Amino acid sequence: MALVAWDSSYSVKVSKCDKDHQQLFSLLNDLHDAMLVGKGSQVVERVISELADYTKFHFEREEALLEKTNYAALAEHRAEHRTFVEKVERFQQDLKAGDMSQAIPIATFIKDWLVNHIKRTDFKYSAHLNAKGVS
Ligand code: FEO
Repeated sequence: MALVAWDSSYSVKVSKCDKDHQQLFSLLNDLHDAMLVGKGSQVVERVISELADYTKFHFEREEALLEKTNYAALAEHRAEHRTFVEKVERFQQDLKAGDMSQAIPIATFIKDWLVNHIKRTDFKYSAHLNAKGVS
């Protein structure tokens, strides 16, 4: 069973960002599946690495859109992204050191963070971007 399923209640009304968020949910479900079937640390590490890379790609794309359109709350938004990336990188270092005990907490942390971030922080840019002709 999927850990998290994207539906229209997650839409930020910007197609590129919605597609990125869908992809992030999909990668998160891959990570969850890998852990459920007891995949080894190398597989879990690889899936977390894919998820971390795609997250960085998405953050850069989202921040570029916000920068280009002079979004007033960009600095705070960017700071949230940075804090998340740093936390995931710390988890990745623990995993590399062989500490698999962090695999379940990282999946739960990423899911909770993404859901809250999309609904509390990303949602705030919808009207701004739509008003700038980005949808
Ligand atoms: Fe869609 Fe701010 O991350």
